[in-house]
Amino acid sequence: MNDFVLHGAVLYCENSSSMKEYEDAYVVCENGLCAGVFEELPEKYSDFPVEDYWDKLIIPGLTDLHTHAPQYTFRGLFGDMELLEWLNSATFPEEMQYDDPEYAEAAYDLFTEDLYIGATTRAVIFATKHTDSTLMLMDMLEDTGLVTYVGKVNMDRNTPDGCRETTEESLRETVRWLDCVEERGYERTMPILTPRFTPACSDRLMRELGELSAARSLPVQSHLSENLEEIRLVSELCPDSRFYGDTYEKAGLFGSNAPCVMAHCVWSGTEEQDLMKKNGVYIAHCPQSNMRLSSGVAPVSLYLDKGIHVGLGTDCSAGAELSLFSAMRDAVLASNMRWRLSDQNVRKLSFAEVFYMATLGGGSFFGKAGSFLPGYEFDAVVLDDENVQTMHPATPAERAERLMYLLDDRNVVGKYVRGTKLY
Ligand code: GUN
Ligand code: FE
Repeated sequence: MNDFVLHGAVLYCENSSSMKEYEDAYVVCENGLCAGVFEELPEKYSDFPVEDYWDKLIIPGLTDLHTHAPQYTFRGLFGDMELLEWLNSATFPEEMQYDDPEYAEAAYDLFTEDLYIGATTRAVIFATKHTDSTLMLMDMLEDTGLVTYVGKVNMDRNTPDGCRETTEESLRETVRWLDCVEERGYERTMPILTPRFTPACSDRLMRELGELSAARSLPVQSHLSENLEEIRLVSELCPDSRFYGDTYEKAGLFGSNAPCVMAHCVWSGTEEQDLMKKNGVYIAHCPQSNMRLSSGVAPVSLYLDKGIHVGLGTDCSAGAELSLFSAMRDAVLASNMRWRLSDQNVRKLSFAEVFYMATLGGGSFFGKAGSFLPGYEFDAVVLDDENVQTMHPATPAERAERLMYLLDDRNVVGKYVRGTKLY
């Protein structure tokens, strides 16, 4: 059971600076875990069934470290505003509609279907404040076979009526949601506490969520240092905090109690960076979102060089696309422009670095995921790049780099998660 071998060209990362590539190799899955990559199939695996992909490219599954399921309905729109205007005029009115189970079901169906089709095998997802539609989204994601963290959103201030809950309601509904999740006994869909961001969460709500995180070992996701106006607002709302990340730290929501992922970190200063490094906080770099909302470009190579965990997020629908290949491309291009226009002390990102972020960098938020190193959970994606072959010979890494620009739905032809074939 769950013992098999994939044969083809193989590319994966061992760490943030080293890619392994093979023109012709065998990736072995034993009991749902990767047993390694071999140029000759070892005798002990000789009775495992072999799925032959010939010269197709086999890579680890990709992790989307930050996206918003309810915003998928308006993807590709509203890219002409900055964050706070965009939240008030596009996002909050849309999210209010998830009170209606019929709307939520139809909208979440579109999102889960597209997530299933692409190269993403794991994702960390915001829902809305609505407990029941959040549970519906979790049911649908469980059925896809993908591995996800999903959060019921907490907000108790500075948002329109209909979007906000009272502090008591938000806490009570969070506990009800967590109890329902436990009852449903999902195998691969996990809850993650989701204070939306400091401007929308009172000190008390944050503190009590921090206590819940510590008491139940619950991971946390939120947004951090995305936009200059947002950062100014946080300094006014929280005058006792040394910097934006300190508002989460004070509440026990910044990696000291449980794993934590913060989206954006475009404008994080040295103190904030140092605390993320110390607490093992993950940064979800969301380049397309940051360009569409004119937020800026995060100094990602600096974060990597400091040893901070960094993965990629699509942040749909501040970002327009659910594809992590697009996120890799945008990370490279944004880093080029940052280097040219703003700061030549921060290196441009290489293909190897963005491939690392989309695989092992973000995957490690889930434990041993995102690589073909022995003992890793067996998540794999098979890419057919026949439609982009040219006269120019290419190594497996070059083929993946080319797909970073040229990939579409035709190219993703196989997907495996935790040793189970999805298609
Ligand atoms: N900050 C608070 N909420 C959001 C959101 O929905 N998207 C983005 N990009 N930033 C946020
Ligand atoms: Fe976001």
